[in-house]
Amino acid sequence: MDEHYDCIVLGTGLKECIISGLLSVEGKKVLHMDRNGYYGGESASLSLDQLFEKFRGKGTKAPPTFGSSREYSVDLIPKFILSSGLLVKMLLHTDVVRYLEFKVVDGSYVKQSNKIHKVPSTDTEALASPLMGFFEKFSAKKFFAFVQDYEDDKPSTHNGMDLKKMPMKDVFKKFGLNADTIDFIGHAVSLYLNDDYLEKPAIETVNRMKLYAESMLKYKKSPYIYPLYGLGELPQSFARLSAIYGGTYMLNKPIEKVTFNDGKVHVTSEGETATADYVVADPTYFPDKVKKSGRIIRAICILNAPIPNTSNSESVQIILPQKQCGNRKNDIYVGVISSSHFVCAKGKFIAIVSTTVETENPEKELEPAYNLLGPIVEKFVSVTDFYEPITDGTQDKCFISKSYDATSHFETTCADVMDIYKRITGKDLVLTIHPNILQQQKEQQDEEGSEN
Ligand SMILES: *[C@@H]1O[C@H](CO)[C@@H](O)[C@H](O)[C@H]1NC(C)=O
Repeated sequence: MDEHYDCIVLGTGLKECIISGLLSVEGKKVLHMDRNGYYGGESASLSLDQLFEKFRGKGTKAPPTFGSSREYSVDLIPKFILSSGLLVKMLLHTDVVRYLEFKVVDGSYVKQSNKIHKVPSTDTEALASPLMGFFEKFSAKKFFAFVQDYEDDKPSTHNGMDLKKMPMKDVFKKFGLNADTIDFIGHAVSLYLNDDYLEKPAIETVNRMKLYAESMLKYKKSPYIYPLYGLGELPQSFARLSAIYGGTYMLNKPIEKVTFNDGKVHVTSEGETATADYVVADPTYFPDKVKKSGRIIRAICILNAPIPNTSNSESVQIILPQKQCGNRKNDIYVGVISSSHFVCAKGKFIAIVSTTVETENPEKELEPAYNLLGPIVEKFVSVTDFYEPITDGTQDKCFISKSYDATSHFETTCADVMDIYKRITGKDLVLTIHPNILQQQKEQQDEEGSEN
């Protein structure tokens, strides 16, 4: 360990592992350490025994009625992957996709007027959906067509509006959409956590709607995919990529000291010191270089049945927009996965409920979601602080990621990774498609061509 590295990475959360992978591929010499004996840090997936130990104390074992502990892989940070989103682009850019298998999530639902409804996935479904009244559907149809046709560099598609300036609420007004439709478009399609977007330039919402529609087109049932064996597979796969390019990985390494001098970073673990040009870390490694900017509650619930009123879906997302849950400012998310994605024993369902904390009694805030789940067999609740770095790290060469937020997908996770990459290298991360994948695609096409 007594040598010089380009970069030392602390913590094997998904963000840190992606950075490690990207830097290793570019030929940087990377040393990656974690104080835990497992990969993933805050974003790990745990076996059932590990889960009971974490929440119920050391030595606690899961009851045998749950089946084998090792059949479980329970995410501490629940998220789904938008199938046309940034994380997929990163998997294709690095070819890490070859280490993973994904399966589409069965359905996407939204709460409205105390009932849950499927988020429509096609024009036909939208027109038949009880989410909108009869007359509302005409306005909504016009609005969706406008969004679909909109192109930045084609003013003829702009309908005379400047979306880079006009706030989203005025665009909704122009199309005459009512409050329930706006709620469903803003929260279940554009996936905003709260209503702040209404005052911001409309272009971001339009782009999010396009991302949702594009993701939806890929697998039809829902816009989301999820890896077999849990999200913990993601950091491990990026770590594998880094290792192939010479990255050194060490788990169970308590970090005793980090000092910054001579323009270098010195990291001491178990009495040995390694030196690097810069360090990348999750916020738990530098408590004095981060600030707390909120709290997130997550409740992992084990169920014996699918969620009522979701057509027995084996995996599903339910969004409870803030306005549908009394006086809230932030949405509540429910993500359900099961043995169809190999994350628990057959017959069990894992529902993870999460939101941004707004009161002194966070668990009570989750009640509207608990009420949708049916009987809960076991529940593990955690409230965690959300941290972000105080500075951008370019001065002290200490680049720190933000904690994982309450969003139900990986877009903000990847945006943070791209931001850190830019702070380190001074250049934008341009996501392309890996030559291996292009080659495969070409071979497939040739094969299809020769069959015809
Ligand atoms: C579930 O379906 C039943 C029967 O159609 C209905 O009465 C109930 O309101 C529904 N509940 C939710 C939360 O959608």
